[in-house]
Amino acid sequence: MKQLLLDKIAKKEIVVGVIGLGYVGLPLAVEKAKAGFKTIGFDEQPHKVKMVNEGHNYIGDVVDKDLKRLVEEGMLSATSDFSFIRDVDFIAICVPTPLDIHQEPDLSCVRNSTRDIAKYLTKNTMVVLESTTYPGTTEELVKPILEEGSGLKCGEDFYLGFSPERVDPGNLIYKTKNTPKVIGGVGKDATEVIAAMYRAVLEGDVKEVSSPAIAEMEKILENTYRNINIGLINELAILCNEMGISIWEVIDAASTKPYGFQPFYPGPGLGGHCIPLDPYYLSWKAREYGFHTSMIESSMMINDKMPAYCVERAGKILNRFRKSLNGSRVLVLGVAYKQDIDDYRESPALRVIEELEKTGADVIYYDPWVRQYRFKGQERVSEPELTAELIESADLVMITAAHTNVDYKLVQRHAKAVFDTKNVMKNIENRENIEVL
Ligand SMILES: NC(=O)c1ccc[n+]([C@@H]2O[C@H](COP(=O)([O-])OP(=O)(O)OC[C@H]3O[C@@H](n4cnc5c(N)ncnc54)[C@H](O)[C@@H]3O)[C@@H](O)[C@H]2O)c1
Repeated sequence: MKQLLLDKIAKKEIVVGVIGLGYVGLPLAVEKAKAGFKTIGFDEQPHKVKMVNEGHNYIGDVVDKDLKRLVEEGMLSATSDFSFIRDVDFIAICVPTPLDIHQEPDLSCVRNSTRDIAKYLTKNTMVVLESTTYPGTTEELVKPILEEGSGLKCGEDFYLGFSPERVDPGNLIYKTKNTPKVIGGVGKDATEVIAAMYRAVLEGDVKEVSSPAIAEMEKILENTYRNINIGLINELAILCNEMGISIWEVIDAASTKPYGFQPFYPGPGLGGHCIPLDPYYLSWKAREYGFHTSMIESSMMINDKMPAYCVERAGKILNRFRKSLNGSRVLVLGVAYKQDIDDYRESPALRVIEELEKTGADVIYYDPWVRQYRFKGQERVSEPELTAELIESADLVMITAAHTNVDYKLVQRHAKAVFDTKNVMKNIENRENIEVL
């Protein structure tokens, strides 16, 4: 099986299947197809399948014309019909791994898609889980489902591995193609063959590790590292405000150290599908070993209270104008979870808006990237344009995402007061009406 697959990789005869055509899956499918591997994307959402087959892109990190060309050339197609799994030699599973309402791992998408794969899995196929998850998932959950559902044996009839996705939406330098990749297979041969398949597609380094659990854990480490460091900085931001010290200037100064320090920045809380969720996958798994991940819990406690803290600060700013949040109009700028992207999953801005409204504030928002969003069953629409009149109509402007295509000078000139939780207005000279987190 090993030599057969290595030969097929070298000759570009591998047919690729990507399960889940979202922020991670679609860019991966496009890269595989661009590298000369015929690729079939699988998604349970018919509108995504239809869009791909019509050559329409819906993910920011994918170049529209690349997608269109690959579809026209017959190198990329999409389907909701898993029976096409029979035709593929390499499968990457890129489905969501959210938390349930009790903040525990919800692996239903991984489980369901793996069951669907197992029904049609054929011999000599490579299966790689890319979804972020707790250490052990590939061997404890995916492997038995594949073996039982297909009657095939892992390592003998098919290869299985884990390779964490590292997509950073909106990153202009690091894309799927040039970001290094880690591969941990079930057995050495699996690792070698799966790594060869990624090397045939990517420019970034491909690092082989000794097991899927190492690869699963390293991904959680990456995201937990960010989560905890952001938690530390958020806590220091609260302290620095009490002490009358600018946390931003402190971080700038510390960043002059050429070794041993990496800057992280405070903000209204954590957002996105990864950093706020993934560490809980580890906390959950750790409890199986009677272990409490206290650093994760502490950092989550701080990060989770940032939206409420920011609203408290907003209230204090209005107080200075003898106003209360109750009855004041607040213009929130930016609801995406980070700058210059349209993804608002887990965005702290949504919680800021919720908290503001709980206090009775009249909230409007403007986001050039997120024209509307749905949160807790409610739909909201962005103000169409950021005009001087709109800014003047608000008692307070609260900046919750550092989008670069916003006219912050206009904001400064016309706002009664600004609360900048991202320090995005740092280069604006006149700062009389600006308060920074
Ligand atoms: N978005 C990121 O920035 C990012 C970065 C690194 C890692 N990840 C991880 O990658 C994984 C995927 O995240 P994403 O952001 O691409 O999610 P997404 O929601 O954008 O896309 C997932 C897709 O999977 C499809 N899907 C769900 N269940 C399915 C099933 N049973 N069969 C077929 N299709 C199914 C959905 O319809 C959706 O289109 C997650 O584990 C996430 O933690 C995401």
